[in-house]
Order: sequence, then C-alpha cells, then structure tokens
Amino acid sequence: MSNSREKCLVLGGGGFIGSHLSDELISNGYDVVVFDKLNFSKKNIVHIKNNLSVLEGDFNNDVDIVKSLKGVDYVFHLVSSTLPASSNKNPIYDVETNLISSLMLLNESINNKVKKIIFISSGGTVYGFPKKIPIKEDHPRQPICSYGIIKKAIEDYLYMYNRLHGLDYTVFRISNPYGERQNPLSIQGAIPVFLRKIAKDEQVEIWGDGSITRDYIYIKDVVKVLVSALKISSENKIFNLGSGVGRSLNELIEVMKKVTGKDIKPKYEEARGLDVPVNVLDISLIKSVQKWEPTTDIETGITITYKYICENY
Ligand SMILES: NC(=O)c1ccc[n+]([C@@H]2O[C@H](COP(=O)([O-])OP(=O)(O)OC[C@H]3O[C@@H](n4cnc5c(N)ncnc54)[C@H](O)[C@@H]3O)[C@@H](O)[C@H]2O)c1
Repeated sequence: MSNSREKCLVLGGGGFIGSHLSDELISNGYDVVVFDKLNFSKKNIVHIKNNLSVLEGDFNNDVDIVKSLKGVDYVFHLVSSTLPASSNKNPIYDVETNLISSLMLLNESINNKVKKIIFISSGGTVYGFPKKIPIKEDHPRQPICSYGIIKKAIEDYLYMYNRLHGLDYTVFRISNPYGERQNPLSIQGAIPVFLRKIAKDEQVEIWGDGSITRDYIYIKDVVKVLVSALKISSENKIFNLGSGVGRSLNELIEVMKKVTGKDIKPKYEEARGLDVPVNVLDISLIKSVQKWEPTTDIETGITITYKYICENY
C-alpha cells in the first residue's frame, strides 16, 4: 500500500487495459480518476464504481485535459484513437488525435507539476521487422504502420520533455496483452476474437498459414508491473513488457482446443500486409530493474478469458 493517498489519472481508463490498471491501483491504495469519452460504457469499471472518480471528456480537448489534471500525481496515458490495422488509412487523423493531443498533455503536465507520466507504447509495432529475436529495447525502431510511428514520436517527445523540463516518465512497450474485458468484436486481439467464435461454434479464420508468432501476456500480469513501477526510479525509462515467449497462431489454437474441449478447424485466409511474421520481446530489462515477471501461464490465462467470454458474449 502507498503511504499517502496519491492521485492517479488513468486516461482511457474505461478500456481494456485501463480498467484492469484501475483495479490494481485501487488495491494498492491510490486515488483513481478514470478519464474517458463522453457517455463511455461503464461496464468495465462497474464493479469499482464506488472506489474511483469518473471524468468524461475528450482527450483532444485542451480544456478537458486541464480539468482532468487537477491535483494529479501520476498520469497513465492509455488513449489511442487508432489501431495498427486502421491507422494507415488516415495518418493525418492519427497525428491530430494522438500526437498533437499527447503534446497538449505533456505541456499541461508540466504546468500541473505531475510527478510522472506512464505511457503505454507498443512492443508489437514500434520495432517494425525484427532483425533479431527476442527484441531488446535498443533494437532500431522502424514501424510499418502509422500507429507505431505515433507511439515512437510520443516516446521521443517524452525524452525531449524530460531533458528540457525535467518531466519524469516511464514507457512500457507492451506486446500482446489478453484477458477479460478485451473486446472480442474488435479487429485486434487474436485470443478474444478466436475464443468468441469458438464459444459460438463459428468458424475461426486465420490470415496466413498460422505461423505468425506473437508474445502474448495475461493482462493482470501487465498491470501489476505498471503499478509497482511507480515506486521504482531508474535510469532506464523504456521497458519491453511481454511474456518473452513466442507463440504461433497454430499453437494458440492447440491451447484453445485443450481448454475448450472443442475440435477447432480454422479456415486459412490470405495474409495481411501489415503483420510482421514474428514479434517476441526480450524482457530481461524489466525483470531485473522492476523485479517482476509474468506468473500466469497461457493455458490458465486462456481458461479465464474463455470463461469471461462465455458469460458475457
Ligand atoms: N490492447 C493491445 O493489444 C495493446 C498493445 C499495446 C499497446 N496498447 C495501447 O494501450 C492503450 C490502451 O489500449 P486498450 O487495449 O485498453 O484500448 P481500449 O480501446 O480498450 O481503451 C482505450 C480507451 O480510450 C478511450 N478513448 C479513445 N479516444 C478517446 C478520447 N478522444 N477521449 C477520451 N477517451 C478516449 C476509449 O473510449 C477507450 O475506453 C492504447 O494506447 C493502446 O495503443 C494496446
């Protein structure tokens, strides 16, 4: 538990990662303010509605950001208006809604003497095609989608603001988080999308031959380190955050067969151009500096997620 009631602002707190993060912050004794869109669905935070404050507004509106920062010690920036797959359709929109608004946030954070900004970047997109697996933090960043370019630019501005204005920050490049409350109707997140189809006995579709490999990490393991990192100061500001283990889509299907007891026969479709073939993060830095490691194995995580999807969709 933290000694005093420090206040954390969770921008995008009504979403998948933000709601789990709010759970973890509350159980560690922090005051939590969830900031999300006007009239956002409260279903992800309904179980903690009496333990936090909610602020509705627009991340793209300076006035709303200024209001949200009042008395805040730590800011978690989890808002994104785009997904990797959709971002290339309109990079100008991506810049306007994600990059410019993030710069507004940094300026206002200085004015409000915020102690630290925690930014959720993307381990799956900032590196682009990996030259070496597993990928270390110092691997060149050459994103192949606008979403990754914006994440990279925000990381760089955090570095600049830290040098110019002393604004402290930590960046977590998260791999592929999964778990309860991740939207199985989205175009992102193979695990929930597959599990919903399996639950409904629908055909699972895989783009490519199923060899695409990713680093999947259970969400509650993710948020544990996001919160504990608040109290660890380090020269290192940027951390990969994943399981460090690569699994192909075909391997995921094998785990899902075991967990659900169903005979799953995926349909293989033409590969998408935006998927790099392999992405697995090297997590040795976060393990040594943050004294953390993931504890939920993939079978357990998929079992919990499947139960959630069966009950909610
Ligand atoms: N889920 C993943 O696989 C993954 C992986 C790596 C990084 N990330 C990053 O983590 C962050 C959170 O992702 P998530 O999966 O929880 O997404 P999510 O869509 O579940 O949550 C994002 C939240 O931000 C809110 N939001 C969007 N635009 C807003 C605006 N203009 N004003 C106020 N609120 C707004 C949404 O309503 C939503 O509740 C994002 O920055 C994302 O890029 C996600």
